Amino acid sequence: MCGIVGYIGDKQAQPILLNCLARMEYRGYDSCGIAVTGGSIKVCKDVKRVQELTTTMPRIGGLAGIGHTRWATHGEPSQVNAHPHLDCSGNIAVVHNGVINNFQKLKQQLVAEGHSFVSQTDTEVIPHLIEKYYDGNLEEAVETALRDVEGSYAIIVLAAKEPKLIVARKDSPLIIGVGDRENFIASDVPAVLDYTNRALYLEDGDIGIVAKDGIVVKRGGTRVEREEHRILWSVEDAQKGGYEHFMLKEIHEQPRVIRDTLGDYTQQNGSASLMDADIKSLLILACGTSYHAALVGKYIIEDLLNIPVRVELASELNYWAPSLAGTGALAITQSGETADILKAMKKLRGVGCPVLVITNVVGSSASRIASQTVYTRAGPEISVAATKSFTAQLMVLYWLAMSYSKADARRLADMVMGIRQLPNKVQQVLDNKDEIIKSAKYLAGYENAFFIGRGINFPIALEGALKLKEISYIHAEGCAAGELKHGPFALLGEDIPVIAIVAQDNTYEAMLTNIREVKARGAPVIALAEEGDKDIDQLADSVLTLPKGDAIFSPVVNTVALQLLAYYTARHRGCPIDTPRNLAKSVTVE
Ligand code: AGP
Repeated sequence: MCGIVGYIGDKQAQPILLNCLARMEYRGYDSCGIAVTGGSIKVCKDVKRVQELTTTMPRIGGLAGIGHTRWATHGEPSQVNAHPHLDCSGNIAVVHNGVINNFQKLKQQLVAEGHSFVSQTDTEVIPHLIEKYYDGNLEEAVETALRDVEGSYAIIVLAAKEPKLIVARKDSPLIIGVGDRENFIASDVPAVLDYTNRALYLEDGDIGIVAKDGIVVKRGGTRVEREEHRILWSVEDAQKGGYEHFMLKEIHEQPRVIRDTLGDYTQQNGSASLMDADIKSLLILACGTSYHAALVGKYIIEDLLNIPVRVELASELNYWAPSLAGTGALAITQSGETADILKAMKKLRGVGCPVLVITNVVGSSASRIASQTVYTRAGPEISVAATKSFTAQLMVLYWLAMSYSKADARRLADMVMGIRQLPNKVQQVLDNKDEIIKSAKYLAGYENAFFIGRGINFPIALEGALKLKEISYIHAEGCAAGELKHGPFALLGEDIPVIAIVAQDNTYEAMLTNIREVKARGAPVIALAEEGDKDIDQLADSVLTLPKGDAIFSPVVNTVALQLLAYYTARHRGCPIDTPRNLAKSVTVE
């Protein structure tokens, strides 16, 4: 999704803006640009990667500027549609993340009043509205302009001769990085980590006036205080650290992520008030990979807490009114900025339903909407494909279920032992990946694949398929193993490999039967199975052997193996692993 950055200080803005933009590339974009003022505004933008723009653009002198990575929604990716956008005079430049719903109406009015437009974007109405209302006070003009606007936005406004940047947000992420005689603005924290680890988070409806020496936040014209936060993420967290791709680095960070996320809760004796309340059922909502974590959560929570759990896609929840009597809601979102999740959370809060959010980003919009927030400790996840954030979400779900469990003490003691062993088991998968790399090379030659699992590993089949399709562009379907014969069998043959997740639980015998059925239709089978499983050796064409453990934790090791399988498959196919086509890290539009 679009990313915005701003700088004002003692230094030349151009190289800082370009560096901040490079740090935001992971969000996904099709074009980029910057505007810098040294008394007059100069804009450079194009359908290019940030690196290419950096090497081809002229030097622009100036100590204040704004920048943007665009992910097209209104108007094709083109030089003219790229941000920043200017008013008629060229004295006001704006970068914007979000969607202006009523832009057509505003544009018609502005055109009738004599404004001329050059792009097809919704954003371009903003600099023209500010121009219309500007009578010497920039912040008031921005505030008045935004009163006309319906939709979502995080904006930075640069004026040619003003020693300040004006920022505002509504339903789109924006942080202000606090420096020494300089300040930074960005859509998210990794963009500014090279310069500062201090940040302010604006509330929806706030207007920020950001100068070199100070930041003032106002609401309805009145000054308000916004607390400064120390960012715990380091510069190294947001760098590749010697790995070829962020995805590989993030997969390898998982033993640490498991330890940190669990350590946080066990040490702080964290509590989740939602679970303390007398809820009769739980609704979990999420999108994409986080939805798969939610599905695993259903199995764990129903098993250990004995309450009914319903899992819904946040994007679907927005179209019907679920019955919520006695229900508590749990939202899961890595970024905390996914538009579908935010909308669904607001809807639930609006009807009085308590919502606990599990998120990875401190100060994210989701954490502000929720009645309670539990943070995962994954650190910044840069690769578009979610990996370590998924594992961290699972850890929180295990912790929640175990903390409020109605299971007997013996079962819980076994689970505590099992969960403590997880970092080492994941490390074993990472250390023994030769077989996975071999299977990836084989899989890379196909255009279709099925992933099958049962029980608590059915969501892992969905997740394995999602990971493979998003980064390798192989069409992959996740399927409950028992469902194959209800339709998908029609597709099976020697040209569609089936990746089968075989757990040592009550699904085991049924899974073996399903694998036999698949083999009988000529499809090659790659099985994920525990070490010592002799039966599977006889059945599958190849076996990815994984460490033994309590089956309730098998989703974690199985997922790590499938992440590696997807990663090496995509690498064999020469795909842009960290930034797959058409995808964005945080999906801030519906
Ligand atoms: C998966 O690899 C994707 N990045 C995507 O499915 C993601 O999980 C989804 O967009 C939800 O994002 P969130 O967790 O930030 O809400």
